[in-house]
Amino acid sequence: MNRAFQNVLVTGGAGFIGSNFIRYLLHQADFHGRVINYDILTYAGNLANLDDVVQECGQNGRYVFVRGDICDRESVEEVVRRYDIDTVVHFAAESHVDRSIHDPSAFIKTNVLGTQVLLDVARQAWQGRQDVLFHHISTDEVYGSLGNEGAFREDTPYDPRSPYSASKAAADHLVMAYFHTYGLPITLSNCSNNYGPYQFPEKLIPLMICNMEERKPLPVYGDGKNIRDWLYVEDHNAAVWIIMKNGKAGEKYNIGGETEWENIRLVEELCKIYAELTGTPLGEITNLITYVKDRPGHDRRYAIDCSKLKDELGWQKAHDFQSGLQKTVQWYVNNKSWIGNVQSGEYMKWIETNYGQR
Ligand code: NAD
Ligand code: TYD
Repeated sequence: MNRAFQNVLVTGGAGFIGSNFIRYLLHQADFHGRVINYDILTYAGNLANLDDVVQECGQNGRYVFVRGDICDRESVEEVVRRYDIDTVVHFAAESHVDRSIHDPSAFIKTNVLGTQVLLDVARQAWQGRQDVLFHHISTDEVYGSLGNEGAFREDTPYDPRSPYSASKAAADHLVMAYFHTYGLPITLSNCSNNYGPYQFPEKLIPLMICNMEERKPLPVYGDGKNIRDWLYVEDHNAAVWIIMKNGKAGEKYNIGGETEWENIRLVEELCKIYAELTGTPLGEITNLITYVKDRPGHDRRYAIDCSKLKDELGWQKAHDFQSGLQKTVQWYVNNKSWIGNVQSGEYMKWIETNYGQR
């Protein structure tokens, strides 16, 4: 198959995985196109994540930023027309489970309705073209919660438990529906928990590191024995690019790190790495660990069977957990101003001044 990859619309490209994806894609020798980053800049979207990309590619036209909402059909139509978009890589989402428990409405709007708007605009713009691609980024959380044994496969029935995972499951079904009903060329990937630089400090790993820096309590939900599978963000993005190039239209692929860790063990490991890197007595950091009330409906265990991706498309992860965690802790320790920026109201004020009110 010959996919165009000339004008690639990356939705949510100012977020954690999306910004790392843009950086990754623009450095690939077999990518010659242009990236249009379409993002509304919620609390989780931060243009500072892409300062280096703007410096490198802002002038040569290979990287463009457009501020916009995926739920705004006219705005999506305009960007697809103006930049002659032939590929969509759809990262934009509300992505944090705890926020979805607090208030699910934004999750339904962005993750479900926003995805439908994008699919529909792509279908109408592409009019049956087959050199185009809509790649949808999803999560392993759509499959629900595992017991002690087994791993999610691509044919595992969907069983989402949180408003976040329910909204992602709905989006996945819509993506598949547009393939079966309209023949829209799609691929879909379901990935396990990512970690790495530029992740907003509300998810487990960056939150713990930032709290260590400030000597604040490290809140561990419930008994701390819930298990997640972890993957370094660049390994996720390498898998996405491989699927975009060689994945079969209409197919879904699981992406995972085959690295299952109990939360409490992971937090203890982070304490160790942080203490060593900063020369702090370990006890001063581990003393911060605090068990707190459990998350309602807290999924017990996630594990991914990604043999389809490995066997059919030849993907392999490049980062082991130990070195990936060390790089990540080091990045947060080195980038205190980034943390201060995304945690402060100053950033949202700057966005409003520069881009208008949301
Ligand atoms: P993130 O919260 O860091 O970033 C989301 C981005 O989407 C932000 O830049 C935000 O401004 C943008 N956005 C939100 N609503 C928008 C809207 N209405 N219009 C335009 N842009 C909007 O999320 P992330 O962790 O980078 O996750 C990216 C994608 O990967 C999501 O679809 C998520 O479900 C999926 N995913 C994440 C993980 C993980 O561990 N973080 C794992 C598997 C899958
Ligand atoms: P999180 O990073 O929110 O990702 P997800 O819920 O999508 O897997 O949480 C990862 C795990 O860590 C999950 O089991 C919940 C737990 N957790 C805590 O124990 N304390 C925290 O402060 C957070 C944010 C998460």
